[in-house]
Amino acid sequence: MIPIFQFAFGAAAALVFMRQRRAYRRALRLGAATLETLLNAIDANDEDTGRHVRRVAQYALELADAAGLSEHEKRCVERVSLFHDIGKIHEALFDILHDQTKLTPEAWKAVRTHPKRGAEVLDPLCAFYPDLYVGVLSHHERWDGTGYPRGTKGLRIPQCARIVSIADAFDAITHSRLYSRARSLRAAREALLAGRGTQFDPDLVDLFLSPLVQEAVAGIRIAPGGRGKKLNRRGDRVQSAPDLIFRWRPAKAARRSPRRQPRTAS
Ligand SMILES: [Fe+2]
Repeated sequence: MIPIFQFAFGAAAALVFMRQRRAYRRALRLGAATLETLLNAIDANDEDTGRHVRRVAQYALELADAAGLSEHEKRCVERVSLFHDIGKIHEALFDILHDQTKLTPEAWKAVRTHPKRGAEVLDPLCAFYPDLYVGVLSHHERWDGTGYPRGTKGLRIPQCARIVSIADAFDAITHSRLYSRARSLRAAREALLAGRGTQFDPDLVDLFLSPLVQEAVAGIRIAPGGRGKKLNRRGDRVQSAPDLIFRWRPAKAARRSPRRQPRTAS
């Protein structure tokens, strides 16, 4: 009698475990799908921003890798990179950011609201990705505490935001925007050095400018599909920046999904 009872109890426990595991995987897929949808929304609203955030994610991941971050921490860096500027697609900022003239002080004041606006957009995802809200909110904080929106200082700024801040500045300097022209790699390196210890985490700047990371960054900049606008075989215009795969998606589900196919043309 006792062995039968033990068997029944064991079978029930295994069933509960399997159900919980299935529910957990489903929740992961749902979270990943939600983020992909948001990334699609960024692309649909402003393809330049879509390309910018992907490049920033690639640079930031190289820096995170060199800094010895764990896989979990690197995924956080990737997410914050991809959504750091989501606040810029807000209706209140769209016209300002797409105006080719130089930004007025009032316009700059409005633009500086984008970290807060972005964090608010992502707030419902806090339960899935606890670091996303504060990472996006903090990506314009400065090492010396003079950044925005909260004036957070030094190591109190989340590490993912300190990494994204460097990658973001590097991309902003080396790629043209509506209101600024691209400058050379050398100019970008000089700007990072100038901000070392004031705008940026000094240790992370040193790491980003190390030969190992710079070699990887140069590889990203010249990777196939990394320049210009390209067409796929059907003649549709596709993202020209290197694309990223949402690596936190369970491998089995990713293989089944057609979205696993890279969207970039090589
Ligand atoms: Fe930003």
